[in-house]
Amino acid sequence: MDDSSSLFPHDLPDQFGARFGRPPEVIASAPGRVNLIGEHTDYNEGFVLPVAIDRRTWVAMAAREDGRLHFRSETTNEDVEIGLQDADHHRRKGWSSYPAGIVALLRQQGVPVGGMDVLISSTVPLGTGLSSSAALEVSMATGTLALAGSSLPSQELVRLCQRAEWDWAGVQCGIMDQTIAVSGKSRAALLIDCRTLDTETVPLDPSLQLVVCDTGMPRTLATSEYNKRRGECDQAVRELGRHAAGLTSLRDVTQEQLSLFGRHLSETPLRRARHVVTENERVLQAVDALWLRDHRSLGKLLGASHASLRDDYQVSCAELDVMVAICQSVPGVCGARMTGAGFGGCALALATPGAVGALTEAVMSRYPQHTGRTPSVVTCTVGDGTRAVRVG
Ligand code: GLA
Repeated sequence: MDDSSSLFPHDLPDQFGARFGRPPEVIASAPGRVNLIGEHTDYNEGFVLPVAIDRRTWVAMAAREDGRLHFRSETTNEDVEIGLQDADHHRRKGWSSYPAGIVALLRQQGVPVGGMDVLISSTVPLGTGLSSSAALEVSMATGTLALAGSSLPSQELVRLCQRAEWDWAGVQCGIMDQTIAVSGKSRAALLIDCRTLDTETVPLDPSLQLVVCDTGMPRTLATSEYNKRRGECDQAVRELGRHAAGLTSLRDVTQEQLSLFGRHLSETPLRRARHVVTENERVLQAVDALWLRDHRSLGKLLGASHASLRDDYQVSCAELDVMVAICQSVPGVCGARMTGAGFGGCALALATPGAVGALTEAVMSRYPQHTGRTPSVVTCTVGDGTRAVRVG
């Protein structure tokens, strides 16, 4: 646990005091993320390359003696109060399901979690594909553990937060968002092998800016279509398994096997498999391009990833396609693609610092003309993983 108090917004203790009439004991935080490349590969045991960003979710908390949980969201201006015993059943109830799930799961693990007041404050935009939910789960888990004087190994923390997403929010997400929220490193992307959970830091070229362009398109299909894609990938593994021995996930499938046996697959599972198999290769090539500072190759890989997500995985939408095309047309932008689960949300562009102004201008003027929606453009720097500070 960190002991520096320069690590959280200075007004957070006062906000907590104003709401709860006493100071917080612990302040914890975790970052949002953008994924450079490796989309919809994590739940197929493949490779991903996300970056923790400088947008974070903070939780300020203090224990209470009456076994009640009071969650206060400064973002939505809502308060939710439940009993400790109710946390297990507090599911599919919007943002408050996440802290409830974390409390219930930690208690199941034997961590001595009692009642508490929790104030949540965040600069991660909600529901735009920057992983606001993982930032909330991980900050909540890190803070609750610190308050209980307990800890968990990183991989167990990651799995516990993923479980909260599955069982309390109903999204059968992979492991990427929670892993980067726990283990993100400043100035680097994190190559995650989602089969072994091994990670490797890959330095980011400081001459590339991460520019996040929000389509303003709500991600209404994100949960249902996301879960459907998982089922289609499982179907692809089953169908391919009749022809190639030893396959347990799409991670095991090679391009050669796909060309040999692809004709035996139904059309949709074939498309899904083709995306995952080629995307895994693109991730590893992108790692090489980053090490070599080969912006041209990196840009091509981002473009190919977007095309594959649009055509084979079918998780893009007209707004994301327009956004990516605008980004790609601006000189000095090395590459662009949708980032996150898709169905709306954000595109990521990698741009040289001199190109950010022109990129912002192009998006703000051309995107509304094509879509009738209002975009926003944010330049992110690289943040780091979760941390907790004892303040009281
Ligand atoms: C969401 C999920 C992740 C991952 C991405 C798509 O962010 O939470 O696990 O599957 O979508 O790459």
